[in-house]
Order: sequence, then structure tokens, then C-alpha cells
Amino acid sequence: MDKIIVLDFGSQTTQLIARRIRDFGVYSDVLPGDILFDEVPKENLKGVIFSGSPYSVYEEGAPMFDSKWLEAGLPILGICYGFQNLTRFFGGRVESLEKKEYGRSRIVYREENILFDGIPENFTSWMSHGDSIQTPADGFRVIADSEHHIAAAFHPEKRIWGIQFHPEVTHCEYGTEILKNFVLKICSAAAEWSMESYLGTVRKQIAEKVGTRPVLLLISGGVDSTVVGGLLLKSLPPEQVHLMYIDTGMMRKNESDEVAAILKTLGAVNLYLIHAEDRFLGALKGVIEPEKKRKIIGDMFVKVQEEEIGKLNIGDYFLAQGTLYTDLIESGKGVGKKAQVIKSHHNVRTPLIEAKRAAGLIIEPLDKLYKDEVRSLGKLVGIADSILFRHPFPGPGLGVRIMGEVTKERCDVLREADAVFISELKRRSLYDRIWQAFCVLLSDRSVGVAGDARKYGSVVALRAIVSKDGMTADVFPFEAADLLEISALITNSVKEVGRVVYDITSKPPATIEWE
Ligand code: XMP
Repeated sequence: MDKIIVLDFGSQTTQLIARRIRDFGVYSDVLPGDILFDEVPKENLKGVIFSGSPYSVYEEGAPMFDSKWLEAGLPILGICYGFQNLTRFFGGRVESLEKKEYGRSRIVYREENILFDGIPENFTSWMSHGDSIQTPADGFRVIADSEHHIAAAFHPEKRIWGIQFHPEVTHCEYGTEILKNFVLKICSAAAEWSMESYLGTVRKQIAEKVGTRPVLLLISGGVDSTVVGGLLLKSLPPEQVHLMYIDTGMMRKNESDEVAAILKTLGAVNLYLIHAEDRFLGALKGVIEPEKKRKIIGDMFVKVQEEEIGKLNIGDYFLAQGTLYTDLIESGKGVGKKAQVIKSHHNVRTPLIEAKRAAGLIIEPLDKLYKDEVRSLGKLVGIADSILFRHPFPGPGLGVRIMGEVTKERCDVLREADAVFISELKRRSLYDRIWQAFCVLLSDRSVGVAGDARKYGSVVALRAIVSKDGMTADVFPFEAADLLEISALITNSVKEVGRVVYDITSKPPATIEWE
């Protein structure tokens, strides 16, 4: 299969370049920016893209490419830092801007070029750079300008193109067309890639890597681990696959049964459902401080996992993980290890995972994919939409949605209220328009009336947000009638609840979860 390699110099959007290219059917993979030319298999390689970077080209430690790439005769496209680094290498001048250029910027091209085929000569691009090319290098012709700087240049003999903007970002008008022009017209790569072909490749890779060893997967009930479970069961004999699910007592209504059912339909035979409600809730008794609760839940997970895995007695097993590309970026572990750390992801480090990683006994078959690609893959392995498009659920479960002490009774109240809320959202066709919705149980109680008597009931807050990735979020703008009817349904069907409120705070300043 024809392929395009993206050399990663640490930009947050590197994997997005490969992803956009795969979207139009050409296989594309990301490799560390400083990989040696001789280490890369060249079979079917049609072109190379140099990514952006958080570095400035003259900074100490700035990542560099192997100069042999420039002699290989393959078309090269430098994006942002990739372009600046090529300019510097060939003797041009790159300078710091007084003010970083960030966001939309108009591009006008000076001459027709195959890179801009079919694109109006004046379009909006997306910029994110602190350095800029002052003088293009020898042999390069400037072919486009942005409002303030050189936007694109071209070296006809060497077949090198450079662009200062980011075509991979959706805000860049015609970004996909520019990538298509490079990949399909300049590199003449054939569009032969599809999710079906990727599934075939991943299955083969899993089978080859694992051999006859057992594989263990800890299932959370979320999309990622369920898709990995499906993939493992499609790639290996089912007896080789061990799936463990820990019910902490803080799961949503019927969640554990649903998870078990789906895994069985996917062919699971070694399925371990660990009921650890008493241990988790026992450890949480009397604890009200949020961080303390999280720590207790996290530590108990590790403890229960270790004990239960020990009981399986499956020797030197592989550990499978549902890590996505974005998880790696967020924890600063992306390819090339230069991506800046945005947030330390709770999933990436536990003693078990670190030990397995060190021993080379880890498989992460989704680590090149974005969430929506995982969903497409999940569909292919036979996972129902109700799982694939389920709202995210935090690792500590209802524990971070119960203010004050977490008890079985309070979990039950929250579970019931939440089930009413979610089923109503589905019934009203609102669920898929909302990124995440759930109920929160407040610590205070409130006075109400029930018949002639006063009732001192629990207070439930509804949370419903829209977001792209959970980093920022807006409140979902409900119609008032929906909120009123949902509130009435909750108070009518969950007798402990005396009052329902709606959380109208965006993130920031609030977080999505309450604790
Ligand atoms: P916050 O509350 O930080 O949530 O705005 C952002 C997203 O992350 C989820 N979340 C977690 N997920 N373990 C998880 O697996 C956690 O400890 C955790 N805390 C928050 C939250 O549900 C939202 O989707």
C-alpha cells in the first residue's frame, strides 16, 4: 500500500496530519522527526511531511531531520517549523516575531502551483508560529504570502514545498485540498487505505506481537477498552484473551450487566467480573474530602487489580491498553516525545502498566487513532452504537458525583436519578447532541412538601455540556420545557429526591465533574 510518512518534531497537531491523509484514503504514519533515513523502510513510500514543533529552529535541542531525506528524490512538504527548519538548513533566514501569529490569516498566492490546484487564490488559513521566514533559502521561490509573512515557498529541482500555515487544522479553509494536492498529485500516492484494511493490519500486528502468550485487558465499560476487547477477540483465539472488569459499586445503573453482555456477544470466554463494591465503599466510609476520595478509589483499583490478576495465574502475560493518540499527547508521550505536556493523564501510569511497559509486554492497538476513528473501528468489530457513542464516564465513577460521603444508599439514589435523566435525553433525541450529561447528588438536603407533609429530600443537580474534547465546555441550551418535565419525572420516580437544579456553569471556570 502506498504511504506517506509524517516526521514528528513535536507539534500538537502532527497526528492530525496523518489522520487527514488517512481520511482521504492514503496510508499515513508518524515517525520521530530525528529518525535516521536508513532506518525507515522505503517500500511504497511516496512522500514525506515535516511537522511543526513547539521549538524555535535556533533553540538548543531543537529537533533536526536526517539530511539524507533531502537526497532521496521523494517529494517533501514542510509545515510551519518543518518549513522553517528546511529554510535554515538551506541557508535562508528565520526570525522571531515580536508577537506570535496565532489564528486565522489570509493567504494570497503569487503564482499557480500544483499545491494550490483548485483553490481560490485568496483563502483563510490557520497559523500558530512565533518564528517566521524573513529570507527564503537559495533555490526556493516564494509562492504565497500571508498578511504579514511568507506563507509558502517551493524548490522546483528538489521538489520541496514549505508552508507556514497548518492545513491539518479544520479552521484552515482548503487545508484538506492542499494535503490532497501534495499526496495525490505531487506524490502520486494511490488512495488504497480504509478502516477495513487497517483492521486487517492491526489484527495481524496483534497476533504477531502476542504469539501464544495470554493477553489481559482491564475493561472499564467505556468505548476505548471495549473496542480493544473486541479487537483482541477478533485477532486471537478467545481462550488467549482475559478480560477483567471491576465493579466498584459506583457504576451507572445496569452498567456491569451491559458490559458483560456485550463482551459475551463478542465471543469472550475468560471474562472476570469482580464485585468489589464492599471494599470500595468500605474504604470510603466517612470520607468527604474530594481529593482523598479520588486517591482512595485509585489506590483500591490498583490493589484489587493486583490481587485478582495474581489469582489468574497466567504467567508472563501481555497487558492490553485502550490508550488513544490524544492520551499520549496529553501526557507528553507522543511520538518523538517532544509534544509539550498539557495534562498528566491518570490512565497512563500505574505500577502495573509501568512494569509491563518496561518488560515490553504492553499492546496499545489504538495509539495511532483519534476517538472518532476508534468508533469506526469499533463498528467494524461489531460493537453496538449504544456503547460506541456513550458519553464519557470518569474512572472514579459516581464517587466524584456524590458530594459528601459515598454510601451504597446514596449511590442508589444517584443511579436512579441519572438513569431517568439519560433515558429521557435519549427519548427526546437530545442525547447525541450533548457531549456529556449526568446527575450529581448534593450533600445538602432541602425541604419540600409531599401531600400534606413536609419532606426533607435530597437535591440532585443536572449537568449537560457540549464540548469537543472535555478540555473546555459550554452548557447545553435546553428548552425550558425539557428541563421542567425531566425535573418532574425525577422527583416523581425517585422518592428520595426533593429538588432538582440545573448547573449552568461553563468550563472554565467550573470543571465538568463536580469533584
Ligand atoms: P473535568 O471534571 O476535569 O472533566 O472537567 C473532563 C473530562 O474528564 C472526565 N474525568 C475523568 N475521567 N478519570 C477519568 O477517567 C478521572 O479521574 C476523571 N475526572 C474527570 C470527565 O468525566 C470529563 O469527561
